[in-house]
Amino acid sequence: MKIAVLPGDGIGTEIVAQALAVLQALELPFEFEHALVGGAAYAAHGHPLPEATLKLAQQADAVLFGAVGDWKYDQLERHLRPEQAILGLRKHLGLFANFRPAICYEQLVDASSLKPELIAGLDILIIRELTGDIYFGQPRGRRIASDGLFPGSEEAFDTMRYSRPEIERIAHVAFKAARQRGKKVTSVDKANVLETFQFWKDVVTEVHAQYPDVALEHMYVDNAAMQLVKRPKAFDVVVTGNMFGDILSDEAAMLTGSIGMLPSASLNERGQGLYEPSHGSAPDIAGQGIANPLATILSAAMLLRYSLRQDAAAARIEAAVQSVLAQGLRTPDIYREGCTRVGTAQMGAAVVAALRAQAG
Ligand code: IPM
Ligand code: MG
Repeated sequence: MKIAVLPGDGIGTEIVAQALAVLQALELPFEFEHALVGGAAYAAHGHPLPEATLKLAQQADAVLFGAVGDWKYDQLERHLRPEQAILGLRKHLGLFANFRPAICYEQLVDASSLKPELIAGLDILIIRELTGDIYFGQPRGRRIASDGLFPGSEEAFDTMRYSRPEIERIAHVAFKAARQRGKKVTSVDKANVLETFQFWKDVVTEVHAQYPDVALEHMYVDNAAMQLVKRPKAFDVVVTGNMFGDILSDEAAMLTGSIGMLPSASLNERGQGLYEPSHGSAPDIAGQGIANPLATILSAAMLLRYSLRQDAAAARIEAAVQSVLAQGLRTPDIYREGCTRVGTAQMGAAVVAALRAQAG
């Protein structure tokens, strides 16, 4: 069971260290190999995704990823920016299916900006297509427009594009996931305006014919953004394209009030996966030892379940996280009065202790 460990930038190194400690406490035959990625890799090797890092990720059964990005790289040319590392890994490994669960933990109901009754018991799964859409469509560029709307002026353009097989495979993933849960899929599109998303809607509808036991509804993305805050519990599985999925998954994560709690998995057709917290590198709090490591620890649980088929070990980690929350331990992002404020390392150590307590 070979795991590539790519901590990246900002709080990435701090939170991945805790997730690693948790995995090690399981005492399973894992083989860990570390590599630099993102700004850290650029600083050391002049590229955010060096050849050696990519090769390591390709050869591993799974990748445990922290986060990439730092303001100090904002001035670099686009292909050298830290974000290109995660985009390159997704593309090269074919990680087309991104799972972003938004779960409201009972003990954290008050952390949300929404009323508790709206989000208590919330459990939705955003499935974002991750290797197509306007993120990767060609052509794209920036140029002096010779015959555009304003001849002689500048313009920039990106191409929104989806092929039938790309839509079909993510639709299958969504319907299969819904079968294991609430048996409802909401496909989010912008079919009223965009040809790409009329096609998306048509193909999802066709694939649905093979899943008569799952309910399908279609929703425009603007309405979906609104319904997510109005009646979030009406959703079960939400499937959408890369761009809309990027936006809606941040919105859904914040419904729970604790983006520091939410893991994610990005899978390819062979079950290889990259696992990362849903939050970013948070350079503003990096190095302070206050970042919440639970999203990364829960991502490690997803890694065990989806890529290594170690369901029992995954469940042990999730139970250990529940237990530290029940003990009242809170990093600053989820802290409220009456709880015990802890830092990154203390939180990680508490999860390890909870795991050991189970074993005994
Ligand atoms: C995410 C991030 C990335 C994305 C960035 C860092 C490229 O926002 O994983 O949601 O846009 O996909
Ligand atoms: Mg995002």
